[in-house]
Amino acid sequence: MTEPDGKPFLYVVVCAAGVAVDVGRLIAAARERDWEVGVIATPVAMSGFFDTAAVEAQTGRPIRSAWRTPGDPRPFPPPDAVIVAPATFNTINKWASGTADTLALGTLCEAYGLGVPTVVLPCVADALAAHPAYRASLARLREMGVRFGEPYSGAAQEGGGRPEFGWTKALDLL
Ligand SMILES: Cc1cc2nc3c(=O)[nH]c(=O)nc-3n(C[C@H](O)[C@H](O)[C@H](O)COP(=O)(O)O)c2cc1C
Repeated sequence: MTEPDGKPFLYVVVCAAGVAVDVGRLIAAARERDWEVGVIATPVAMSGFFDTAAVEAQTGRPIRSAWRTPGDPRPFPPPDAVIVAPATFNTINKWASGTADTLALGTLCEAYGLGVPTVVLPCVADALAAHPAYRASLARLREMGVRFGEPYSGAAQEGGGRPEFGWTKALDLL
């Protein structure tokens, strides 16, 4: 639902991958493009993968990770779009299988039924990406209309290191 100030509302779902430490870059870029942002993190991501206080200050809202208590109001408005970044092997496979045992997964599973545009930036090492279950999960999510960005498709870093994680590719796909 569009916020009272007219801005559309973006859910950023953060999983427990090392690059989550830089999720503030995505939030800053989304706000520059006039999205209001609420962050939903997996419980593992909340355990030291990024600076939760900094993200709460940046978005002006508490990070959501646990289910609300029945009867409590919904802390975020409904989403106009969802970005999952970084998306882990674990969350991608559980989402594709319809598992909803965290708030992040429940939100992703529901987004499909609600018709909310959803974009994913996977952060999955080649050794895990080779698993047949992962390939099947990607195929199923693509069939569901989920859009995948390639965050590591940029130029190699100085010294030949892996390209920087391309956070803004997710916004380009919305
Ligand atoms: C330092 C660190 C970095 C990790 N980076 C990744 C990663 O880039 N991609 C990934 O799929 N899993 C990564 N993992 C493993 C996940 O944290 C683990 O599979 C976890 O269960 C994922 O939970 P979630 O999908 O609920 O966030 C990492 C773990 C650690 C400790």
